[in-house]
Amino acid sequence: MCSWTLPARAFGVSRQKAISRDPVFQAIRRRAISTSQVSFSRLSKTGRTPPISGISSLQQLNAIKRTQTPAFFLSTTTTTSSTSPSVSVKSMGYVQDAVLEALQELFDPAEVARGAALAKLEKPKKKKKKKKQDNSGDSEDSSISEEEKKAIADMAAKEAKPFSIADTMVTLATRADFGDYQVNAAMGLAKSLGMNPRECASMIVEKIRPKIEDFMEEPEIAGPGFINLRFKPEYLTSVVEYMASDPAGRLGLPKVSKPQKIIIDYSSPNIAKEMHVGHLRSTIIGDTLSNLLSFSGHDVVRLNHVGDWGTQFGMLVEHLRDEYPAALSLETSQDVDLGDLVELYKAAKKRFDVDDEFKARAREGVVNLQAGNDEEIAAWQALCAASRVEYQKIYDMLGIKGLQERGESFYNPYLKDVVEDLESKGLAVESEGATAVFLEGYANRDGTPLPMLVRKSDGGFNYATTDLAAIRQRVEMTSEDGGERANRVLYVTDAGQAQHFDMVFSAAKMAGYVPEGSSLEHVPFGLVQGEDGKKFATRSGDTVRLKDLLNEAVRIAGDDLRARTENENVPDDVIDQVARIIGIGAVKYADLSMNRESNYRFSYERMLSLNGNTAPYMLYSYARICGIIRKASGQEVVGNIKWPEASKITITDDSEMELIRSIVRLPDILTEVEKDLYPNRLCDFLFETSQKFNKFYESCSVNNAESPEVKSSRLTLCTATAGTIRLVMNLLGIEVVEKM
Ligand code: ARG
Repeated sequence: MCSWTLPARAFGVSRQKAISRDPVFQAIRRRAISTSQVSFSRLSKTGRTPPISGISSLQQLNAIKRTQTPAFFLSTTTTTSSTSPSVSVKSMGYVQDAVLEALQELFDPAEVARGAALAKLEKPKKKKKKKKQDNSGDSEDSSISEEEKKAIADMAAKEAKPFSIADTMVTLATRADFGDYQVNAAMGLAKSLGMNPRECASMIVEKIRPKIEDFMEEPEIAGPGFINLRFKPEYLTSVVEYMASDPAGRLGLPKVSKPQKIIIDYSSPNIAKEMHVGHLRSTIIGDTLSNLLSFSGHDVVRLNHVGDWGTQFGMLVEHLRDEYPAALSLETSQDVDLGDLVELYKAAKKRFDVDDEFKARAREGVVNLQAGNDEEIAAWQALCAASRVEYQKIYDMLGIKGLQERGESFYNPYLKDVVEDLESKGLAVESEGATAVFLEGYANRDGTPLPMLVRKSDGGFNYATTDLAAIRQRVEMTSEDGGERANRVLYVTDAGQAQHFDMVFSAAKMAGYVPEGSSLEHVPFGLVQGEDGKKFATRSGDTVRLKDLLNEAVRIAGDDLRARTENENVPDDVIDQVARIIGIGAVKYADLSMNRESNYRFSYERMLSLNGNTAPYMLYSYARICGIIRKASGQEVVGNIKWPEASKITITDDSEMELIRSIVRLPDILTEVEKDLYPNRLCDFLFETSQKFNKFYESCSVNNAESPEVKSSRLTLCTATAGTIRLVMNLLGIEVVEKM
């Protein structure tokens, strides 16, 4: 794990000391001090990432990351004179940290907890009364004596935890005229402490002012004690200048200060079965989350938890024994062409359902496979290999990279242990011949307790058992034992599996498999439906094959491009290439732009439309900005675009500032998605930014600007916008094209 970046906030003393001994830091510090009188925009004219001299490419940055301690975002921190320009991107995290420090200095969490507890004891009287009416049977007296109250309050004070980021209550401003951020902590604190809330707000303001005054206007206390914070225009323009100096890279955005190891379990189709639209959604969403988290600097492990184990392999293996005997030898099994696996599965299933002798053989087949018998293993491997070839075709079309296959079979050696462990802890019990875990709060429709099965009556293990074993391997086991020790595990599957994961996660916690500091998160998504809102299927009612679905999107995009007169002379292979980007991009974007939890209606027409929040619209916006830049700098349309050097931004129109305010939200959006895992926020952000760009472009001419300075300024805005679109589209797994 790398830990080379610095927190985008005032640095703690110990860390700062360590850093200040670092040679890279020394060099940067010298430079920062010597240039502290020079405005940042002049610095950025060098066309480099300003804070570190001589680092112009991502590769160079990465090289530094590997060999040295923190370098990137040092620039001007509290260590340099306060007049020096602030060039690091101050996202919400910075403000949260400043407020957190203020709370720590100003208030005692124990007193706050005591006050909150007392307030709670006063408040819920009404509720209590209601409750009492409901179960009038047991008449427990709800009035609490003063002594009891004091005891409860003392207890709350004793158990109070130190303030955390959540206590800072920093949010994006709810309205543009309130500024950029809001701090809402004062009201609650004042209530608990019996203070005047506006006074409490002004104490917080006093503390945070020195930390934010370089880049924020004087904080405003509004209403009952809201603190409104607004970026200074000079700061906003400097950030955009800064972003525009790295348009093809990461726009100068910092990485997280505390990288985590994050496992993302996604795609996960089942061997010898069709990969369906649910798996497509999982693949698209999982890939975007992986891209984003690794962009933020985390150590991301992308796992394809394929269904490659289980009783269905008994019948498949036995079917192969009869139909493809060569598949049962380890020497030849990899070369056998099994044809259409879906047909094969159907045929095997049919025999299993009608033929008792075959059924018995299939049962035996599973046992032999589990025992590691050569023939069965060979046949199983043949099935996995054939499926892998099919899935890979889809992954290639989608441009999915870095997804590592680690299927259910991987956890087979751990299953027995899991069940025994659960039994020894009294969590798993015998139930109708099987072994099950009964968890509080889970019931069947008829009210009877709902078991989570971990061992079938025939001794086989269940889906949940594998997931429990996987949890141990992912978060509990140390690396010496072959474990991953991840801080976060994300499971991207359809919402239909929510209960499964709920139960598995609770059981894992109860069994002590989840260490403090590790979190397990189900990332559910809704169904893909047809345009009519019904089941997604072909006209004849068959399931849609993913290959056909993707090819159709590319075909429509291609036909569209060919129908345009301006493309008459464009070579076929170029059209095909662009059509692929638009078609596949449209499928991805349509999926990602929806709140993932809702069902989504698949419509080629909508996703391929040039209007609205779609991939073609965003791709077109990007290409158009590239066109503007090329025209302004007299560049030919051949070859890759050459980005103009970032220059000082001069604001002449409101639309410019609006565009800037939109662009600088990017780091906060990324942080939000990192936390809540809703990729549609990225699409909303893109759409809003490109709308702001259009407004700007309508009101401000770039090529006929009033003066050369204004022209360079507007070109810098164009560059920052294009860089932002490109970056976010790439995170969504979509390439961009410079001309369309
Ligand atoms: N193979 C499963 C399916 O197709 C998805 C697996 C999800 N991951 C997991 N760890 N259970 O529904």
